[in-house]
Amino acid sequence: VEETLVLLKPDAVARNLTGEILRRIEAKGYQLVDLRMMQADRDLLAAHYAEHEGKPFYEPLVEFMESGPVVVARVAGHRVIEGFRSLAGTTDPTTAAPGTIRGDLGRDWGLRVQQNLVHGSDSPESAARELALWFD
Ligand code: GTP
Ligand code: MG
Repeated sequence: VEETLVLLKPDAVARNLTGEILRRIEAKGYQLVDLRMMQADRDLLAAHYAEHEGKPFYEPLVEFMESGPVVVARVAGHRVIEGFRSLAGTTDPTTAAPGTIRGDLGRDWGLRVQQNLVHGSDSPESAARELALWFD
């Protein structure tokens, strides 16, 4: 069965939305295979976001992600990689579809980085790489 890496970002933890977001994942029928809360350090975040290095939002993104604890989840299910990204909605919380995590719960604070509550791996290759990074 397919697995993906889901991160509940520091805004989700700060806003007490971790239960609500995990509820949506479970209600969809996906399994929480492994779950923990941690403070990510810069090395881990630099490896996780290597593809974005050099982009204008990279530094604010890493600063945001190290600003508080994150919840890290290994989530399993049939087509869960695509399925979770569909549950999450598009990157910008203002225009993410209602019914999605970002569309229903996301706030645009007008900051330099989208504080959009969640991350989900975007391909099988990313999922394998990111799960190894966060769980091994
Ligand atoms: P997708 O955009 O659906 O792929 O979600 P994602 O969370 O995987 O986004 P992506 O991998 O493209 O970027 C990582 C994170 O960087 C996003 O979730 C945002 O927090 C932030 N980000 C991405 N693009 C932008 C942007 O154009 N502007 C700003 N301010 N932040 C961005
Ligand atoms: Mg992406």
